[in-house]
Amino acid sequence: MLPPPVFNSKCDHAFDNKIIKKISADRLYERVDFLSKKPREAGTEGEYLAVQYIKEKFESYGYDTELQPFTFQDWYGGISSLFINDTVFREDVRTFNGSVNGTVKSKLQFVGLASSEEVTDSVKGKIALIERGSISFYEKVQNVLNKGAIGVIMFNREGEQGNDFGYTYEGQDIPAVAIDRETGLSFVNQLKSEEVNAEISVQDAGVIDKTSYNVIATMKPHKNKDNGQIITVGAHHDSVAGGPGANDDASGVSGVLELAKIMANTPTDTELRFMTFGAEEKGLIGSYYYAGTLSEDEVHRTVAHFQMDMIGSRDSGDLIMFTPDGEKNLATDLGAAAGARVAEVVEYGQLGRSDHVPFFERGIPSALFIHAPLEPWYHSPEDTVDKISKDKLKETAEIVGAAVYQIARPDTPALEKARVAPSPVHYEFDDRPL
Ligand code: BES
Ligand code: ZN
Repeated sequence: MLPPPVFNSKCDHAFDNKIIKKISADRLYERVDFLSKKPREAGTEGEYLAVQYIKEKFESYGYDTELQPFTFQDWYGGISSLFINDTVFREDVRTFNGSVNGTVKSKLQFVGLASSEEVTDSVKGKIALIERGSISFYEKVQNVLNKGAIGVIMFNREGEQGNDFGYTYEGQDIPAVAIDRETGLSFVNQLKSEEVNAEISVQDAGVIDKTSYNVIATMKPHKNKDNGQIITVGAHHDSVAGGPGANDDASGVSGVLELAKIMANTPTDTELRFMTFGAEEKGLIGSYYYAGTLSEDEVHRTVAHFQMDMIGSRDSGDLIMFTPDGEKNLATDLGAAAGARVAEVVEYGQLGRSDHVPFFERGIPSALFIHAPLEPWYHSPEDTVDKISKDKLKETAEIVGAAVYQIARPDTPALEKARVAPSPVHYEFDDRPL
């Protein structure tokens, strides 16, 4: 491993200015606006449109740009229907992720929140009507299964709209569907005065293969100055299902594009790779795929990975750098020093949960740049562009840009020979809540 360089906090403004003076808050905001018009769930058309947009932008800045496709397994809910007293109640109920296929028909029994105290032997052979909340999906389903229920209908908890929730786990081989709260409460009411027969039918549910993409733009260093180093800068372009993902993570994508645009005209001695990942929300799948394609030689030459995820919410806290092991590394050293020069020192903390993890696991110094505590809109349909702060976007892009340029610019020696400046920047571990 290369030794970390030493930095002074106030000496590099002239160099920083080469980068930060060019960063445009308006451009940063416009890209978030464009990308967040529709959800970009991995494997959907929304993702593909975003991928095309990002590729075109990279190409317009002069980059060699590669689309890296990969497949992943996703849950498909099939067609589920619900019959009450032999009439079709709904043909579009939502299947629990992991539900088995099949049709079950029996009496309906309300078991409250389905805690082990509430569920009795009387549910045997029946379909359990359950209220969401208080204990996990796993426990609820297991409690009614243990007492011999043959199907699960769960309604939403107080204050939550719709029926988009619910998981069954391995071994919980029971048809299970979700309904909205209002419908659920109407059944609870009906059960007070009469017996209710229910039928649940789940068909064609299961795991299917989908395709997602990483977008990778590369800039080789100036031929005579190439010191063999690589720096990677990433964000994820996919959103959660149904979420516009303005902050998570159109904001990071826009940061990556902005730095790519600016660095395109800036000579460096280091290879820069700007990239956006697909299927992050499905389990960091795109970044694992990309990290898995790196040769040992590339891993050895990659001096740092900078991940920007959720960098623009007006309703979140201050910038922080997270590493999966909670230790400082070259990426955090560079980020803290750049912060001190550009705005203020950035603290560090411990967290995985984003695309810096696969890089870290391959031994590359990596950090996640994010604001914490999080905004209340995280992973919701309310994560929209009107909640984005131009200032937050700009400041984060400036700090990451200055950190990257600190080692990429040709007048600093390659890292193993680097003594960039005389005194280290002091930055601290911070375990603020998310
Ligand atoms: N942007 C989030 C990561 C995040 C969430 C950081 C909360 C800090 C606090 C990311 O897109 C995400 O949601 N990740 C998943 C993890 C992944 C393995 C599916 C998460 O945290 O649930
Ligand atoms: Zn994210």
